[in-house]
Formats: sequence, structure tokens, C-alpha cells
Amino acid sequence: MQIQSINAQIPIRNRSNNLSFGGVLHIDRSTNSINDSWFFRDIDTLEAASEHLRTVFPEGANVLVYASSTGEENISLKALLPDSKYKVIGYDNSKEILNLGKRGVYSLFSHWYDSFLLPNKAYVLKDSGKGSAPYDTRKNISLREKFNRIMKEIPRADAFDNINNKTYYKKMKYSIPHFVEKFYCIRDQFKSDIDLRLGNVLNVGDVKTQRPVGAVFFRNAIYHLCGNNIDEVLLFNHPKGHVCDKQLLFDNFVNALHKTIADDGIFVLGNSLKEHLFWADPTTPKDKKAFFLNTNFFNKNIDIHMNHAIEECYIKSPLEEALSKKFIPIYYSFVESFGLKVKVPTIWKKIRI
Ligand SMILES: C[S@@+](CC[C@H](N)C(=O)[O-])C[C@H]1O[C@@H](n2cnc3c(N)ncnc32)[C@H](O)[C@@H]1O
Repeated sequence: MQIQSINAQIPIRNRSNNLSFGGVLHIDRSTNSINDSWFFRDIDTLEAASEHLRTVFPEGANVLVYASSTGEENISLKALLPDSKYKVIGYDNSKEILNLGKRGVYSLFSHWYDSFLLPNKAYVLKDSGKGSAPYDTRKNISLREKFNRIMKEIPRADAFDNINNKTYYKKMKYSIPHFVEKFYCIRDQFKSDIDLRLGNVLNVGDVKTQRPVGAVFFRNAIYHLCGNNIDEVLLFNHPKGHVCDKQLLFDNFVNALHKTIADDGIFVLGNSLKEHLFWADPTTPKDKKAFFLNTNFFNKNIDIHMNHAIEECYIKSPLEEALSKKFIPIYYSFVESFGLKVKVPTIWKKIRI
């Protein structure tokens, strides 16, 4: 099938899905880094975080979304926290992605993670484990309503110039039968509650805001800080990422988070494998490392795991090690990767010290 040949050319991060639309459409050409995102990613964590913000900060708060990419995460949070007392400020350190986000054009495609937001129809991902028939749930319907309250559809003609990677886009569009696409922008009344700025999460300790910072998000990007390229090594046998003292890096990062987040505020992490399992390197103390096969994330039934069984990893995530000193986990999600499902903490509440 033609899709297979496209598959071979695209740097797909999750092979259980046929195509990575987000990854295809959001590539920073200066770094080649894949800036994929989609609406309501790990929705359970987003809902739990929003609920926490409503309960602990009823007067309102600022929500800092680092690694905001083109802004899908900011928009998802605004859809869950539509009251203007919650301001969602997105930061990303990629100028190209930021400029793309500032164009304000968003897309929904069939067969992609957020395709359930498309009107009238619900699409399932091939191989999503949910069967091949279109399905819909009360939750999907409610999220679709929330999405449409802050987003309005725009004609394809107005959106087309703003598509990042037209070559792949066209290949996909013309090779997938019944491909559906819709384009959106943020409704005017919500524009001032959502912001996109250039910013590096490592400077989070210097952020000054008028309202308390109720939450800092940095999801599915931790690996950028330390070259933790687990998927690339497992899938493509890439050499391991760069050498750095990850414990020191994350201790400093967590101190900065603790300084900026208000009391009882939260830090929110993603649920990708690469931010919960870390490669060891020559700086890692002997008593902190183990073979991949001895970690929770190893599954002997997965061939690519067996091929890398004796790569060395941190026994405990150095990020979790650092967080446990100043935050407590209050919500857990799951890393789902190569048929594996492992429970991981994604929301951490600041401890008052
Ligand atoms: C895979 S995307 C994740 C997008 C979104 N957070 C999500 O979960 O869907 C990773 C993003 O992190 C950004 N990024 C990488 N290092 C960063 C840093 N130090 N500070 C801020 N953003 C960073 C990249 O530019 C990219 O847009």
C-alpha cells in the first residue's frame, strides 16, 4: 500500500500509528527537531491538572506551558479552563515553531490522535486497539464541545499557506482514502487568554508574573534537555544521546520550578517513555544504574527491547529523584510504548518548605 512507502520516509516516533501528522507538519528546519503536538494529549492528566487549578486557585492563576510547540496544548488547557482568570502562557525555545504557532492556524486530520474532534464523525487510529469501527464516547463529545467553544473553523484556502511541510502533507492527503482535513483558528474573545512566547524552560526560575503561577507544564520534551533519545536508539539503533550529569541538571531545574510555582501549585510532565526512563552515561554513579532489562520499562516479548537489553539506564529517573525532594506526585498516567503500559507520575504538587 502507498502509505507504507510514505511511512518509510517519515521520522515516525510511534510505529503503532500509520502516520505522524503532527511530526510531519511541525519540523524545525534549523534543528530538524520534531515538534509534534496534538489537542488534548494525555487528556486524563490535563483534566486532573485543570481540576487541581480550579480547586486550589479559585481566584485564578497563570499557567505556564513550556514546550508549547505550535500551541495545541495551550488551547487544550484553555478549553478546559475557559474562565479568563486563568491565563495560559506558552513558551517554546524554537523560533520557527513559535512563528508557525503565531500564524494561528490549526488543523484536524482524520486518522490522527485528535481526529475525534472532527465534527459529525469519530475516526479511530488504525491499530489503536479500539477496533476498526468509528467510535464515539461521551467524553469525546464533551471535549469536542469544549474545543468548538474556543475554536472556529476557517476555510482551507485561508489555511493552506500556513502549512509547514506541504510535501508530506500532500503525499498523505492523496494517499489516504477518505482523508478528512479541517482548519481552525482561536475565537477572538479567547485570544488574550492564550499567549505564545520564546522561552527556555531552564530559565523558568526567572519568570515574574502578577498572578500566582498555579502550574508549569513541560510535557514530552524533557529528553531535549539531556539528549535522552530512547526511541531513536530502540527503533533506529542511533548512538546514545550526549553525556551530561542528569542528576545535577534536574536538581537545578527542580529548584527553579520550586521558586516559580506558587504554594500547592503543580508541575506537569508528559507520558512519553523518554521522560521517565533515562540512559546512564559515564557520569552516572555505579549504584544508580542498571541494565535496561532490569527496569520497569523492559518487556522481553518485544524484539527491539531484547536487542537493547543490556544498555545501561538509570534505576530511578533522575528527574523523579530531584522532584521527590520538593514535590509530591498527586496523579499518575501511563507510558504506552511498543505494546507496553507502565504507570508513571505526571502531576507533582509543590511541597511547602
Ligand atoms: C515533542 S514537542 C512537545 C509538545 C507538547 N508539549 C506536547 O506534549 O504535545 C517538544 C517541544 O519542546 C520544545 N523544546 C525543546 N527544548 C526546550 C526548552 N529547553 N525550552 C522550551 N521548549 C523546548 C521543542 O522546540 C518542541 O516544540
